[in-house]
Amino acid sequence: MARSIDDQLTKYLTDAHSIEEQTLQQLRGAPDAAGDPELARLFREHLAETERHERLIRERLEARGATPSRVKDLVMRAGGAGFLLFARVQPDTPGKLTAHAFSYEHLEVAAYECLISVARRAGDDETVSVGRTILADEQRMSERLAAAFPRAVDASLPPPPDLDCGDISYRRFRVIYTVPDPDPHRFDSDRDGIGCES
Ligand SMILES: [Fe+2]
Ligand SMILES: [Fe+2]
Repeated sequence: MARSIDDQLTKYLTDAHSIEEQTLQQLRGAPDAAGDPELARLFREHLAETERHERLIRERLEARGATPSRVKDLVMRAGGAGFLLFARVQPDTPGKLTAHAFSYEHLEVAAYECLISVARRAGDDETVSVGRTILADEQRMSERLAAAFPRAVDASLPPPPDLDCGDISYRRFRVIYTVPDPDPHRFDSDRDGIGCES
C-alpha cells in the first residue's frame, strides 16, 4: 500500500531511532570487551555521540507527533529483529567486535542517507539538518574503526608463551642484542650474551 511522504518520513525516523537504541545497547558493553585502551576510548566516545543521536531523532519524532508509546512499540519490534542479527555475529574477540561495530556504522550511514533523502522530499529541513549532523558522526566513526583494525587484530591474538630455561633443552647459547626485543623470555638474565648458563 502506498504511503504518504509524511508517513514514510516518520517510518524512516522510527527505523533510525531503533538502530540508535540497538547501537547504544552494544556500545555500552564494547569498551570492556575491546581488549585495547585505544579501541575502548573509541567506543566510549561514540557512546556519547550515540546518546546524542538517540535524543535528536526522538525529538524529531516527537515534533512530528509520533506518540512515545507508538515509537516504543516500533522500536521494540525492530529491536527484536536486530537482536537476532546481533546474536548470530556475537563478538567474542576485539577483532570480531570491531568488525561488527564497523558493519553497524555502515548500517547507520545507509539509514541516514535514506532518511535525509526522504526528509528532503517531504520538505522537513530540520530533519535534513539533524540527519546530516549525525551522518557525519557515523562516517567518522566508521573511518576510525577501519584505521583501528590492526590494533583489534593484535588485541585478539593470544599472548605469546613465557618460557623458562627448564622448558627448553638448549644451554649456553648466544643471545644477540642487535635485534628488536632480543630476549623476550629473559634466558640471559645477567645480560652477558649467553643464555641459560646452568
Ligand atoms: Fe548513531
Ligand atoms: Fe554510530
